[in-house]
Amino acid sequence: MKKIKLETTATLYEDYSSFSDEEKLLFSKAREACHDAYAPYSKFYVGAAVLLENGIILKGNNQENAAYPSGLCAERVALFYASATYPTIPVKAIAVTVHYNGSDLEDIVSPCGACRQVMAEYEHKSGKPIVLYLLSANEQVCQIDSIKDTLPFLFTADILKASS
Ligand code: THU
Repeated sequence: MKKIKLETTATLYEDYSSFSDEEKLLFSKAREACHDAYAPYSKFYVGAAVLLENGIILKGNNQENAAYPSGLCAERVALFYASATYPTIPVKAIAVTVHYNGSDLEDIVSPCGACRQVMAEYEHKSGKPIVLYLLSANEQVCQIDSIKDTLPFLFTADILKASS
């Protein structure tokens, strides 16, 4: 028997001062997106903005449904939109932020496992890391340099190739 210990790394920033104009634009698009979320049931308004390698930024937000499981998280709405629209352009980064209880959330919210798995798919597809920025209302940023760092034991297409 052997126990293994997995470690991960994230960088916390107290404000936006060390970020580029492109990153700041990405953050503002994520913030914009959460205000347009369709979340009448949870009232938890999540915004995501995806930066593509060609510089285009696309927005997504959570889309809920009276049949609850038919809704979808912001991150997947944004990533599926990006992949459907620019199927060959790698995703460089994704920023995520939340509006809840009448104000932009000060807590940093980490994407659910299903969204991380979808992010991992596009990272694996392009072979280039996707940077994840988790944003709080007061300009704190948690930066994670690869989706692999968010999902230990992630499932990728390699195993499907290995068994075929
Ligand atoms: N949600 C997201 O959009 N992203 C996540 O990573 C976690 C949760 C949404 C789904 C649902 O509309 C609401 O937040 C409450 O779970």
